[in-house]
Amino acid sequence: MKDIEIVASAKSIPSKIVTNEELSNLMDTSDEWIQKRTGIKKRHISTIKNTSDLASDVAMQLLNKTATQASEIDLIIVATMSPDNMTPATAAMVQGAIGARRAIAFDISAACSGFSYAIAIAHDLMVSNNLKKAIVIGSEVLSKMLNWHDRTTAVLFGDGAGGVLLNASAHQHLLAHELQTFGELGNKLIAGHTKVEKDFTANDHVFSTFEMDGREVYRFATHKVPDSIKLAIAKAKLNLNQIDYYLLHQANVRIIKSVARNLKQPLTKFPVNIDEYGNTAAASEAILLAECMKKNLFKKGDIISLSGFGGGLTAATIIYKF
Ligand code: ACO
Repeated sequence: MKDIEIVASAKSIPSKIVTNEELSNLMDTSDEWIQKRTGIKKRHISTIKNTSDLASDVAMQLLNKTATQASEIDLIIVATMSPDNMTPATAAMVQGAIGARRAIAFDISAACSGFSYAIAIAHDLMVSNNLKKAIVIGSEVLSKMLNWHDRTTAVLFGDGAGGVLLNASAHQHLLAHELQTFGELGNKLIAGHTKVEKDFTANDHVFSTFEMDGREVYRFATHKVPDSIKLAIAKAKLNLNQIDYYLLHQANVRIIKSVARNLKQPLTKFPVNIDEYGNTAAASEAILLAECMKKNLFKKGDIISLSGFGGGLTAATIIYKF
């Protein structure tokens, strides 16, 4: 075995849609502000399904699409920052739900870079251990972690899941991966903080909601994402013009435009779906990838750059050849 290949992709999106207008009834914001500053028109919000339910739905679709038996799966990785529980891992819940008894299953926490991190980890584990099949999913129900009265965060995020089935391949598809962490900037984006009380019996078991220094994260993204892409492309011994499509984490359409300008690449190479879903953290790249594949956007031989950035802070890029 030499490498891995993406053989199928799928997404699971909650049916409930919340528009910008609806949010303007809940807090001091407007459709105009949200669209102009972010490109978001609406988001899908889960009112019943939790993170593992969306992820299990994606996993089942991947098995059905490829006529794969659950017992053939060797590895399941779920990237999420909104797991159902601290333990069991969301991936373990997916493994149980689909009956993939042989699979090793664990979550990774790298926020909005999670899907790219998970693909890289799956690749390295599969190649070094000769694994045949893996499911990699990004799944989030961020709505349960938001303060719905804080306009600086609540308008930005949405729920959903996406994922891929990876098979072992004799041909090289994953040309490079570049993963980075900037822990000194961790306090720029925090969610789910837990406190330790001096009086241990007074622990209130409360997790904090999202807090983000939007301007700092914006600055980080517009500087570090182009760096991450350039480093990954150099590792793959390619140049920027040889990349057919740049799939970026969907956090803000202004960030996508800024990265395109920085790389001197046409915006037509940057698929966008943030208008429909908002920022779905680890699910964002996976949902975008699934939608592009469904539209048959990528032809055999096309090379894509898949980049995430966010909490940690983290940045990650995968260079993949179809
Ligand atoms: N509606 C109306 N006004 C608002 C809203 C809102 N929802 N939110 C903020 N404002 C106001 C602010 O109070 C401020 O008012 P002031 O000028 O009177 O002080 C004004 O709008 C401008 O605020 P900024 O924060 O400067 O707005 P900015 O243009 O930076 O946009 C945003 C904010 C969208 C958050 C942007 O900074 C951004 O996209 N940051 C990056 C986020 C990101 O990439 N996250 C990825 C990681 S997410 C993850 O890992 C989970």
